[in-house]
Amino acid sequence: MKIYKIAVIAGDGIGPDVVAEGIKTLDCVADSDGGFRFEYTYFPWGCEYYLREGRMMPEDGLEILKDFDAIFLGAVGYPGVPDHISLRELLLKIRKGFDQYVNVRPVRLLKGAPCPLKNVNREDINMIFIRENSEGEYSGEGGWYNEGTPEEYVHQTGVFTRKGCERIMTYAFELAKKKGWSVTSVSKGNALNYSMVFWDKIFHETAARYPDIPAHEYLVDAAACHMVQDPGRFQVVVTSNLFGDILTDLGAAIAGGMGLAAGANVNPEGAFPSMFEPIHGSAPDIAGQGKANPMAAIWSASQLLDHLGYEEYGAQMIESIQDTLMEGKELTAEMGGCATTSQTGDAVCRHLARRLGG
Ligand code: NAD
Ligand code: IPM
Ligand code: MN
Repeated sequence: MKIYKIAVIAGDGIGPDVVAEGIKTLDCVADSDGGFRFEYTYFPWGCEYYLREGRMMPEDGLEILKDFDAIFLGAVGYPGVPDHISLRELLLKIRKGFDQYVNVRPVRLLKGAPCPLKNVNREDINMIFIRENSEGEYSGEGGWYNEGTPEEYVHQTGVFTRKGCERIMTYAFELAKKKGWSVTSVSKGNALNYSMVFWDKIFHETAARYPDIPAHEYLVDAAACHMVQDPGRFQVVVTSNLFGDILTDLGAAIAGGMGLAAGANVNPEGAFPSMFEPIHGSAPDIAGQGKANPMAAIWSASQLLDHLGYEEYGAQMIESIQDTLMEGKELTAEMGGCATTSQTGDAVCRHLARRLGG
């Protein structure tokens, strides 16, 4: 029997709750298939670990993770540890250290999911963000000068490399080719006179290599407006690290909320493990109350299945989330229901087992 080794970093706040439900659904698929199973290794890294050990993960954390088939992560960050420490020393360290340069974030409005937009067809909210995940505004380069003086100032440097831009844009066009979709680049060349002018130039070069794929471009401010007023324009969207971060929370808002927004941090070459996580954070406001919606984590688990080559199972998992939404009986509070995290996870599993013939 094939065994997949999964590293689990449940993390902080609602992370452990939602991860447990993602694992339930993964096991449901494995049990039904019978030809493979998952072996989970749990790493207690996160803010509590930091308060105990003085670091977010062991010094050789990446070395420990490098031979796993995938990483499944909940959420990182909690009051008591500064966010720029907790996130940069765990989540961002893994993304960068494992060269997970593609952040795949689907924005798709499932049937039964709430949507605040008026006059929009459900099918029009169906796009995939390809967010650059290794450099750009998140390079971490910069400095703090003349601290505490009236001349105090900081630099936060965006780093955009030719290699980094070419590979993310190529990934976007290849995905569009596979799906028969268009590619839209989101940038800001009118104000960011080096980084985004460079981004646009490389987008034009890449688009020229794919003459059959429709290519569009928007400035990020206009893109935000179009996402709300006319989301049907967008199919594959390629954008920088920071713009992708912001626009995918907007994407979550139009596609059912943070409880439904999933993401995959992918190293396409397979040189390092890829990491799957909901895009929401640790939600301290609802942590420990059983109120977190596990659907985003479950959707991320479906991306993990896709990544391992089980795309049909991945698709069935999303269908099962949709079944649960349409049935409307076991939904968490932010969806207007009163089910707990684990009751919602059980409901998705029930639909999944039925779909898989179990
Ligand atoms: P958040 O995503 O944790 O929460 C924003 C809002 O969405 C809150 O009202 C929360 O209750 C709600 N929400 C989020 N996930 C939900 C779910 N599954 N079900 C129901 N409601 C949900 O963002 P924040 O409050 O800005 O950040 C909290 C902490 O998480 C910070 O430390 C932040 O840095 C961190 N963070 C981590 C990640 C990550 O690990 N990938 C992502 C974003 C934020
Ligand atoms: C996300 C998060 C992270 C990001 C933070 C927590 C560093 O917001 O995954 O969207 O900005 O990438
Ligand atoms: Mn974010």
